[in-house]
Amino acid sequence: MAGFGKAMACRQHVRTRLGTRFMSSSSSSWWQSVEPAPKDPILGVTEAFLADPSPDKVNVGVGAYRDDNGKPVVLQCVREAERRIAGNLNMEYLPMGGSVKMVEETLKLAYGENSEFIKDKRIAAVQSLSGTGACRLFADFQKRFRPDSQIHIPVPTWANHHNIWRDAQVPQRTYHYYHPESKGLDFSALMDDIKNAPNGSFFLLHACAHNPTGVDPSEEQWREISHQFKVKGHFAFFDMAYQGFASGDPDRDAKSIRIFLQDGHHIGISQSYAKNMGLYGQRVGCLSVLCEDEKQAVAVKSQLQQLARPMYSNPPVHGALVVSTILGDPELKKLWLKEVKVMADRIIGMRSALRENLEKLGSPLSWKHITDQIGMFCYSGMTPEQVDRLTKEFHIYMTRNGRISMAGITTGNVGYLANAINEVTSSA
Ligand code: LMR
Repeated sequence: MAGFGKAMACRQHVRTRLGTRFMSSSSSSWWQSVEPAPKDPILGVTEAFLADPSPDKVNVGVGAYRDDNGKPVVLQCVREAERRIAGNLNMEYLPMGGSVKMVEETLKLAYGENSEFIKDKRIAAVQSLSGTGACRLFADFQKRFRPDSQIHIPVPTWANHHNIWRDAQVPQRTYHYYHPESKGLDFSALMDDIKNAPNGSFFLLHACAHNPTGVDPSEEQWREISHQFKVKGHFAFFDMAYQGFASGDPDRDAKSIRIFLQDGHHIGISQSYAKNMGLYGQRVGCLSVLCEDEKQAVAVKSQLQQLARPMYSNPPVHGALVVSTILGDPELKKLWLKEVKVMADRIIGMRSALRENLEKLGSPLSWKHITDQIGMFCYSGMTPEQVDRLTKEFHIYMTRNGRISMAGITTGNVGYLANAINEVTSSA
């Protein structure tokens, strides 16, 4: 009896404790301590733009391609691939590593059509949730298998890179990249940082069309960077979100990667079809890691899949099928390459137009960097306060670091934009 009484008392105690917990949680909120998160510095700009009723408004914030009427574009090759897919698609799960066909075609774009690494099966690769997902998967992989490592990130970089490695709990170091005075590359400081980093460090590199600066190393400078990486035994992780957007030719835009491959580096690459195929919302990309041999690649791939499984199980099918349909058909691939070039050329044209308009207005500042920089963005050199004025007085939306998404400029708004920039930069 004494035992039974003790058990009852104990149960009562538990009930009381649970009851107390229930009471306290119902009398206050579960999420009382949760403060609103700060607005995303890039996607928050789109939210503000959409909320503005002004007919004059211009969005040069987010890096998303627009045609010369400021409208989002679905590529013809994508439309044709969707037509072919329609009706033939079942909704089964993809494997954890995603579409094998899509991954195969994607690797050719980065490593080269006839890459020996692809033939030798030395690349561990999985379909990822676009470039963000590829970076995040790699960051988690890095944390799991090199738990004491850090990641060296350029200054500046795409704001989300910091979030990605922070949430993966990989400590971050920064390295010099941009030179504010010349609005170009700070090559000597960059090389110093590579030399001074501990041997065997992880570095995040933008393969081409650096975001946000639009400043890329020259081919010769890439060779020097690669050489120094070799000397120091560093690991290069390339984020290649804009392949094709720098020169209009995806093969040429992979030059940095090819140099590292020639030099015998074992690199990692994040690839994305958001920009160069306009598949923004489809979230389709690829993470690859070049390994020592096939056995290592099999092991690494299995671990990448294991990281993916509890996060999102397996990636979405539609975008992957669009990509593999396009890249697997020589005619559609040709059309895609043509369309990438059209997008890149329109941006290059808008660079000249913006610069010319500013010069015609008699701006006392140099705007040469607009045409020197490359890819989707121009790092204008405008201050956060000047950007605030653009938004408040002219309904022009862009990130406060002065980055202009050139893809949002059209022949219709370039004059208005130039005038506004001239106003806020001439009157200090
Ligand atoms: C950008 O930099 O604007 C794009 O990469 C979109 C994004 O997700 O930030």
